[in-house]
Amino acid sequence: MTNPVPTAFRRPFRLAINTGGGDAPGLNAVIRAVVLSALNRGWDVVGIRQGYDGLLDGDGVVLLDESAVEGITHLGGTILGTTNRGNPLRWKKELPDGSIQEVDRSGEIIQAFQDRGIDALVAIGGDGSLHIASQLSDRGLPVVGVPKTIDNDLAATQVTFGFHTAVQTATDAIDKLHSTAQSHERIMVVELMGRHTGWIALFAGVSGAADAILIPEVPYRLDALCRHMEAKYEQGPRYGIVVVAEGSHPEGGEPSFVGEGDDTQNKRYGGIAEQVAAQVQEKTGLETRSLVLGHLQRGGQPTAYDRLLAVRFGTAAVDVVARGDFGCMVALDPPEVKAVPLEEAVKKIKSITPDNDVLHTARQLGISFGD
Ligand code: F6P
Repeated sequence: MTNPVPTAFRRPFRLAINTGGGDAPGLNAVIRAVVLSALNRGWDVVGIRQGYDGLLDGDGVVLLDESAVEGITHLGGTILGTTNRGNPLRWKKELPDGSIQEVDRSGEIIQAFQDRGIDALVAIGGDGSLHIASQLSDRGLPVVGVPKTIDNDLAATQVTFGFHTAVQTATDAIDKLHSTAQSHERIMVVELMGRHTGWIALFAGVSGAADAILIPEVPYRLDALCRHMEAKYEQGPRYGIVVVAEGSHPEGGEPSFVGEGDDTQNKRYGGIAEQVAAQVQEKTGLETRSLVLGHLQRGGQPTAYDRLLAVRFGTAAVDVVARGDFGCMVALDPPEVKAVPLEEAVKKIKSITPDNDVLHTARQLGISFGD
């Protein structure tokens, strides 16, 4: 949908920003970049709190001026708040008889944008939030997406911001595990995030010199993993580090979840490290402990790499809005940041393929994938 912003306005062009899905380091850097480059063009900027909730429930729309975004580039989290629960296009409404009905609230959202004089939206999110943005775009909302997720699982961009920081945090944790594992001659099994992909586990596992890395893309065999760890103990030093992506599963088996139901909103990955640790200890007799790094991977200051990527994405998104190139997402296609159709961008998840260079590197280093 191309509809360039006219140069002379009767009132300033009003741009809105929201952040959706799980938070990721770099969100605030994008917000600041969008605000400053929009203000530079003489536009007004508003922020919608908690995804789209700020539009639907109460008054969650705030004016974003220079002072509102001062000193936030290096801060984790998002000053706008976020949510990864509830889809406004499939809103769960409780009926008087207690049953749940799904309702599409996109009409209300589009009306709320019009009522507040908002001309366009920069939606910062992962695949779930960008999917919602894509559907709102189909219904006529002028929207430009910015790809965010620590999982790095969006196919349309070489990398998402947040991933680099998560890998650094996970690598720091693995570094610390080496000394305690070595002191006790134990195997430490650490579970990392990533949903159905193993990007964080692969990159942090290689950087942190793990002995084995389990990822969803390479189903593992317990026997192979145990043989590898026993060989490591024989060869020495007598300790081991196993990195497990939360979505990993054994050959012919299923991933491990916490939470109930068939709704992925309620069902989260979790528990695989504990399972693997118990099985390895039972099979090898080697003392094994597990831990889940969890939301630490989403917190803290973004690395310089993520900040730079975030501000590049933010300013590029404003350029795309100015061109009126709506229904697009900004994406890194080195050396450029370009715009790709949102619809295409949310169609495909990026998984680790067998020919991946880092996977190859890991195998060359003797790291086992349990296959
Ligand atoms: O998508 C980001 C992510 O951190 C995943 O790696 C993880 O599976 C999920 O979000 C956890 O979600 P929640 O914050 O709801 O526990």
